[in-house]
Amino acid sequence: MTELGAEEGDRYAVIGHPVAHSLSPLIHEAFARQTDQHIRYERIEAPLNGFVRTVEAFFGAGGRGCNVTVPFKGDASRFVAHLDPEAAFADAVNTILVGPAGGFAGYNTDGPGLVADLRRLLDGPRELSVLLLGAGGAARGVARPLLRALAGRLTIANRTPERADALARRLADAGEPNARAVSFAELSGPFDLVINATSAGLGDRVPAVSASVLEGAFAYDLMYGRETSFCRWALASGARRAEDGLGMLVCQAALAFELWRGVRPETEPVRQALRARLDAGGT
Ligand code: ATR
Repeated sequence: MTELGAEEGDRYAVIGHPVAHSLSPLIHEAFARQTDQHIRYERIEAPLNGFVRTVEAFFGAGGRGCNVTVPFKGDASRFVAHLDPEAAFADAVNTILVGPAGGFAGYNTDGPGLVADLRRLLDGPRELSVLLLGAGGAARGVARPLLRALAGRLTIANRTPERADALARRLADAGEPNARAVSFAELSGPFDLVINATSAGLGDRVPAVSASVLEGAFAYDLMYGRETSFCRWALASGARRAEDGLGMLVCQAALAFELWRGVRPETEPVRQALRARLDAGGT
């Protein structure tokens, strides 16, 4: 890793494994152009057992901030000296910077990014009845912001029910009593909003819940792509609309950019440009 001169702009990166297909460089470069910020943003693939030495080398060479993606968000939460409340709840960090008093500070902008995208998509009441499918890292990252901002009631259902129970208990312990865990088999609608936070789509699968829970609901998949298996299935099951997580990706990036640069970029032009790119078959 080389030290960069000021003429090349402040240096940022996303660290993951794999990371080759990350859209983050495109997003942050677009934000930088839009806000006249001079930055460089790269992808860094860390070895699976080498997150800490990779992130230390990055900051040691002058890096100003980084995003962290799969599978290192948990490692990142243990690495930083200070955690924001969302990151502390999720045990997961997706944004790191050097804090004002020195020392690394870790944030989790995934949940607030999801909430921001849902606000774009849904107008109407704040107190929605929300079903969250999944209870792994992704679900833990979004559950608390969802409850605080949008969900009057949150139902959590997971293939392994104990994990849904544990997440509901963790929310209650964090002062959020309006979450309950329900098994896939016992699940019944209707819901205003059904969010897929499982990784079933990686294998082109969908969670094994009754299609009736989707009926009339707004379906949202944390994964993004030209057409995700969850979105396809949700529409076929009677969802009134299905949206993938591209907007969340852009919104979580905007919150990270604001933490680093002190200026909030416009998300919508960037989301639309990426949508067009995905629809045209790009990655
Ligand atoms: P992530 O960080 O993507 O959330 P994770 O912590 O491994 O990854 O969690 C994966 C989530 O997807 C879990 O909720 C998992 O369910 P289990 O806890 O029962 O393993 C869920 N998941 C993965 N494949 C699934 C499938 N085919 N059907 C339903 N849920 C699935």
